[in-house]
Amino acid sequence: MELPLNTILPGDCIAHMNALPAKSVDLVFADPPYNLQLGGELLRPDNSKVDGVDEEWDRFSDFAAYDQFTRDWLKAARRILKDDGALWVIGSYHNIFRVGSILQDLHFWMLNDIVWRKSNPMPNFRGTRFTNAHETLIWCAKSAESRYTFNYDSMKSLNDDLQMRSDWTLPLCTGGERLKSGGRKTHPTQKPESLLYRVIMASTKPGDVIVDPFFGTGTTGAVAKRLGRNFIGLERDPAYIAAAEARIAKVIPVTDPAILASVSKRSEPRIPFGTVLERGLLTPGSTLFGGTRHDKQAKVRADGTLITDIHRGSIHKVGALVQGAPACNGWTFWHFQLGKEYLPIDVLRQKIRAELH
Ligand SMILES: C[S@@+](CC[C@H](N)C(=O)[O-])C[C@H]1O[C@@H](n2cnc3c(N)ncnc32)[C@H](O)[C@@H]1O
Repeated sequence: MELPLNTILPGDCIAHMNALPAKSVDLVFADPPYNLQLGGELLRPDNSKVDGVDEEWDRFSDFAAYDQFTRDWLKAARRILKDDGALWVIGSYHNIFRVGSILQDLHFWMLNDIVWRKSNPMPNFRGTRFTNAHETLIWCAKSAESRYTFNYDSMKSLNDDLQMRSDWTLPLCTGGERLKSGGRKTHPTQKPESLLYRVIMASTKPGDVIVDPFFGTGTTGAVAKRLGRNFIGLERDPAYIAAAEARIAKVIPVTDPAILASVSKRSEPRIPFGTVLERGLLTPGSTLFGGTRHDKQAKVRADGTLITDIHRGSIHKVGALVQGAPACNGWTFWHFQLGKEYLPIDVLRQKIRAELH
């Protein structure tokens, strides 16, 4: 059976997943009903009604019914995942602990729990609890043996060259991104595209297949399309399907593979700084400049080390010493002068790498 790529299948997600071929998809992203158990209407201090989630799809008779539903969809998701596949579930304190324990019972392998810290949360109107300012995403592999995708270097690049942490501060979906119909929100729990951008960039490759069993307004599909990934959306509410289809049709995908590629620095050949000298791209005795005003200077020695009045050592060590910093990436810190311009020595490394390909 060919996968119904980049379409939304109307109806129950469990039946649809059970009809897809086993081990056929790379990632499942799920934003299931939270089982919010809202009792009665929630009013703001000015007596206006809070737009909470009180839809029929979020109602379960009790925890046992919610657990049974959770087990059923997770089993179905596990069957369609490739052995090296992975799954994300987003939830709140109402459901995430139950989902987590069922995931482990089904032999999914926990990788991280991510805290999505909402930069603009809804206040606790009654003043009876802390402001509920985060949601939790569980990221797990199909099994402990899965060689799951993690684009470590892309995450680091997205985070200004610092390792990406497990707490993500991102705003709620508001403004122009929030779908509206007749002046009201089209969907009570539309997720921000920034959240899906990070999930998809972290854990998939271009061309991968992502299934979202609780598609809603199609946030997963919109971001997947933009980033050159395939999606299969499952959703039982025809109004949400129509909204998602219209939204995704407007997305312009990035198609250039060079723009989409997540280059792993680990897979690039290691180039020692000495190679730059051997190749004659810099000569011994050249001056390198560091710091935002290029006010730190060091001379290049014939053996590929740097020397200043008081320090000597590798480009990284001397870079750290002149700044009084614990560590330094010498490739991006040190610059050489070309005419009136200062260019990072990393440019020379890239030139050598390009010749090796
Ligand atoms: C929490 S919302 C997902 C919102 C979505 N992430 C977005 O950004 O718009 C859950 C969605 O799952 C759908 N749903 C609930 N149970 C379902 C089922 N058994 N099969 C298919 N869809 C279901 C609901 O209609 C709802 O749109």
